[in-house]
Amino acid sequence: MPAESGSSTPSKKRSKWEDEDEEDPPSYIPQPKRRAKPKSIKPVDEPRIAESPAPPQLPPVSQKLSHSVYVPPRTLHPPIQPSRSVYSYERLNQIEEGSYGVVFRARDKQTGDIVALKKLKLDEEKNGFPITALREIYALMSCRHENVVGVREVVVGDTLTQVFVVMDFIEHDLKSLLTVMPAPFLQSEIKTLMLQLLSAVNHCHQNWILHRDLKTSNLLMNNRGTIKVADFGLARRFGDPVGVGGMTQLVVTLWYRAPEILLGATTYSTAIDLWSVGCIFAELLLKEPLFQAHGELELLSMIFKLLGPPTNHSWPGYSSLPLAKTISLPSPQPHQFRQKFSYLSSAGLDLLMALLTYDPERRITAEDALDHPYFSSDPLFFLHELR
Ligand SMILES: Nc1ncnc2c1ncn2[C@@H]1O[C@H](COP(=O)(O)OP(=O)(O)O)[C@@H](O)[C@H]1O
Ligand SMILES: [Mg+2]
Repeated sequence: MPAESGSSTPSKKRSKWEDEDEEDPPSYIPQPKRRAKPKSIKPVDEPRIAESPAPPQLPPVSQKLSHSVYVPPRTLHPPIQPSRSVYSYERLNQIEEGSYGVVFRARDKQTGDIVALKKLKLDEEKNGFPITALREIYALMSCRHENVVGVREVVVGDTLTQVFVVMDFIEHDLKSLLTVMPAPFLQSEIKTLMLQLLSAVNHCHQNWILHRDLKTSNLLMNNRGTIKVADFGLARRFGDPVGVGGMTQLVVTLWYRAPEILLGATTYSTAIDLWSVGCIFAELLLKEPLFQAHGELELLSMIFKLLGPPTNHSWPGYSSLPLAKTISLPSPQPHQFRQKFSYLSSAGLDLLMALLTYDPERRITAEDALDHPYFSSDPLFFLHELR
């Protein structure tokens, strides 16, 4: 379950790197400096293939090659190198223990750069490298963007169960910021934060990645006020054929979870991320999470209260959702957006309602949200430098 559930157990097998202060790496970790120069021994069976792409000449049958001559020569392959060791970094302090890994602040011994190392949880794994860890690394690498946390490399610890993703270190996360700030963000600040968040989400969706866990603790912010979407621990590609049983419903931390997931939909798409973006928008305005429910039923009734219960008109697909019949809807009532967000401009309210729309088919996309009049109406952007 995602972070708030608190059901995670800390990783038992810790590397020396995590436990002790500055130290020399154990002797069994290969170190780049000590690595011997590759000797120029010709592999006995390796066929010699011309470096320049000259027209291939088929060898006589007696010297049959082990692979096609049409395969490009080794020198044209992308450089694949072994991962560096975690001992390339000096551990500074532990930032947080989340649901999927521990995050450390560290210093790159070569460049002096301050970075964040997230240790992936692998040690319970019995079936090789877990798909969740692969997805996290794949998603981070395929979504590079100004507003997505930058991934630098993947390093390994003392054993194969210790794998760390090295990221740029970002000073704050929005959840902690919102709790320590004496006053909420200004309307102009919220606008620039939303624009950055939507740019990142749009970029992920264009690259076929669903984040599936957007919430304020997964949004980092540097001292120049730039947002970086982080924590791709639940991200996955969409557009892939959905397997038997559909996509898992245990995605998105409860408070940010879209109604179609709450009602048991087994297929869902980019719209689930836009619902979470709507919850984040509301949280920035209110300075506290919008739906602080203790369980799924309470969450649904809070949603029904704010949006008005769904109708055949507002959500034609509602009655065919697996759990719809188990829910007794309250009597019809109008939405309460205006009462709840009395200071928001009408363009802002319109965007918020477009994000928090029941029907995932009609919920605004990230691309359309970026073009919403909210972003071209006053007050325009201005963000104080954070100190
Ligand atoms: N690149 C980073 N720079 C600074 N802090 C980070 C970074 N990545 C994560 N963190 C901190 O660690 C916390 C947990 O990281 P996250 O990737 O969200 O892991 P989890 O999947 O365990 O929630 C974040 O909420 C944030 O406070
Ligand atoms: Mg997280």
